[in-house]
Amino acid sequence: MRYDFATPIERRHPENEWSSFKWQRYDDDVLPLWIADMDFASPPAVIEALQARVAHGVFGYGQVNASLREALCAWSETHYGWPIQPEWQLWLPGVVPALHLASLALTEPGDGVLTVTPIYPPFLQVAERTGRLAQRAELRPPQQGDEYWRLDLEALEAAITPRTRLLLWCHPHNPTGRVWSHDELAGLAELVRRHELIVVSDELHADLMLNEGESHRPWAALFPELAARTITLWAPSKTFNVAGLTAACAVISDPNLRQRFAAAVKGLQPDGNVLGLVSAEAAYRHGEDWRQELLVTLRANRASLVDRVARWPGVGMAAPESTYLAWLDLRESPVMQGIRSPQQQLLEHAGVALSDGADFGWPGFVRLNFGTTPSQLEAALKRMDSVLA
Ligand SMILES: Cc1ncc(COP(=O)(O)O)c(C=O)c1O
Repeated sequence: MRYDFATPIERRHPENEWSSFKWQRYDDDVLPLWIADMDFASPPAVIEALQARVAHGVFGYGQVNASLREALCAWSETHYGWPIQPEWQLWLPGVVPALHLASLALTEPGDGVLTVTPIYPPFLQVAERTGRLAQRAELRPPQQGDEYWRLDLEALEAAITPRTRLLLWCHPHNPTGRVWSHDELAGLAELVRRHELIVVSDELHADLMLNEGESHRPWAALFPELAARTITLWAPSKTFNVAGLTAACAVISDPNLRQRFAAAVKGLQPDGNVLGLVSAEAAYRHGEDWRQELLVTLRANRASLVDRVARWPGVGMAAPESTYLAWLDLRESPVMQGIRSPQQQLLEHAGVALSDGADFGWPGFVRLNFGTTPSQLEAALKRMDSVLA
């Protein structure tokens, strides 16, 4: 390995120094596997580009340059087989703000904003925060003979009303790590077409496919006839561990949709963090070797986790096909019977901080972030043994 994914990096800093939310939220003796950032240093090329920009010393308003736009076009074509144009890109400080802005820009008060659960929690809040109607449909959990979470098209259709306008879609999916099959997506596309929905496709985890040989296919590329009603959201933040630098991109091929979205963004969002933009360009241009080694580490971590979960009676987990998040079903665990919050139980009795499934719309579950060094993951799993084994 050329890069170091094994040596733990101290992310707890003395009070009043800049620290990480992940490591500072809980007591010092807690191991945090909750919020979705990784415990790895970003690619050296990213760090060097940032150092050069910081050395310049002037941090006035930045501008998205042609070189960043070209880097993302090249990344899309190389990795997803989707040729995009520089002018389709609207760079923004974050994906979550973009979800909210899409709701404001593309729907009217009282319109339905639909999503599936379990889901990354901010998806569940967009409708209410923007004065729209929240509409949800549950995914189908793994069943006998089928290890995966599946899209339940009937449930989705049942949740749709004449007021439904917008589908917030997560592809690949946080928290299950699911990479949707072509059949599932084709069924969804048919439904989107029939109900004339606009789709926001949050593809933030697209570059972390864990099954060898698989590559991401953007929703808008799979269904070009729906591209005119699609906003695709990408960012280097998860892949290259630069979430704190706040740079994300909305890719919108249709000029009308782009103009409507851009108008909503005006005044509500700053133009961009110059360091975030610098990091994005460096990551997309020079981060590929690092990403490949990251995937080796994440695949090994996933294997350790799968082995471990198999030893915990009553605990269910479909091996994630993407990203560094795993979704654990603790409802049948004998030690969790009568326990209101398994997340709290594991925090108090194992000293491991996970994300509470209730926030994703499914109490009784927890989400575990395995984007950490193998030794830190092992330490946390050992602690979890003491409760779950
Ligand atoms: C699916 C998904 N969307 C959005 C975000 C957050 O994006 P941002 O930090 O750009 O708002 C996350 C973070 O974990 C995520 O998993």
